[in-house]
Amino acid sequence: MPRAKTSLPGTTDRRITALVTLLAENATIVISGTRIAREIGVSRSTVWRWVQRLRELGVRAKGHPRTGYYLEKVPDLLTPDMLKSRLKGCVFGKHIHHYLKTDSTNRVAMELGYANEPEGMVVVAEEQTAGRGRAGRVWQSERGTGIYATLLLRPKISPVQAPLLTMLAGLSARSAIQAQTGLTIDLKWPNDLMLGSKKLGGILTEMHAEPSQVRHVVVGIGINANQDKFPGELASIATSLRLSLGRSISRMELLVRLLREFESNYNRFLREGAASVTQRFEAVSSYARGKRVSVSSAAEIYSGVTAGLSPDGFLQVEREGGNIVTVIAGDVREAV
Ligand code: BTN
Repeated sequence: MPRAKTSLPGTTDRRITALVTLLAENATIVISGTRIAREIGVSRSTVWRWVQRLRELGVRAKGHPRTGYYLEKVPDLLTPDMLKSRLKGCVFGKHIHHYLKTDSTNRVAMELGYANEPEGMVVVAEEQTAGRGRAGRVWQSERGTGIYATLLLRPKISPVQAPLLTMLAGLSARSAIQAQTGLTIDLKWPNDLMLGSKKLGGILTEMHAEPSQVRHVVVGIGINANQDKFPGELASIATSLRLSLGRSISRMELLVRLLREFESNYNRFLREGAASVTQRFEAVSSYARGKRVSVSSAAEIYSGVTAGLSPDGFLQVEREGGNIVTVIAGDVREAV
């Protein structure tokens, strides 16, 4: 096996990925620590240290230095090697940076955008210590349970159109989840994935732009996949696929589906324009039309009934008295 070095500070050492791949390819067969050490090019004590690290991530690696190691079950880690082999021919399968732990995949992807990384680059983490949510909130990113991924894009669009990418990501996540689990996901404008009345995931789009032209955009996607509980007050407002299905799902499978869906929706958007996104969003989101909502913007809180999306994807709300306003930014909640 080739000895590969980590290409970016903090990303997962390629040799840890090689260790996982070696064990996964020989699942249930005991491989000696000496052979592993030789094949991935590290010492036996490093192999032992890494096995411990992988166990902390939920990898069911059995054995110890004297007996050798084996995997009880192929792990659900989002390693670049495995993702790339499942994403052949997909623009999002070419440049994947993986972290066992980072502060925020959006933060990393923004920086890589400034460093001229190409469109299609993906940053994925097993855990985030400062996951970013909308409106400065923190995105709970417990190790190995959710999907925390950010895509780098360089579309030739005006900054006003960037929110369409958030909606496009929501549509892609919705289709991927539905295809894998059969669950029907609702989309709450602009960025929430909802399962019933609880939040299943969210999208955070950030960009670097000139007044009339986007330079780069990062689309960060968080999906609650295998969490079996949520801390504190999140418990009443958040849910996961596992909580809903009563079983764990493959995060690898879901991320692969999501990236493929995103690619096809993105290409369609570039070809056909905003309407390809807004029309589909309106068709599947129960929030887009006829929903009584309360909107909190920077200036005020008001209520009204949703009245579809503007051509650029902004939510329109009919206020009491019949005045239709366009929500550019703000929190939209179902009015009780
Ligand atoms: C929201 O609904 O508030 C948006 C949540 C977005 C979370 C994702 S997780 C991956 C990416 N990295 C981040 O720091 N945030 C986004």
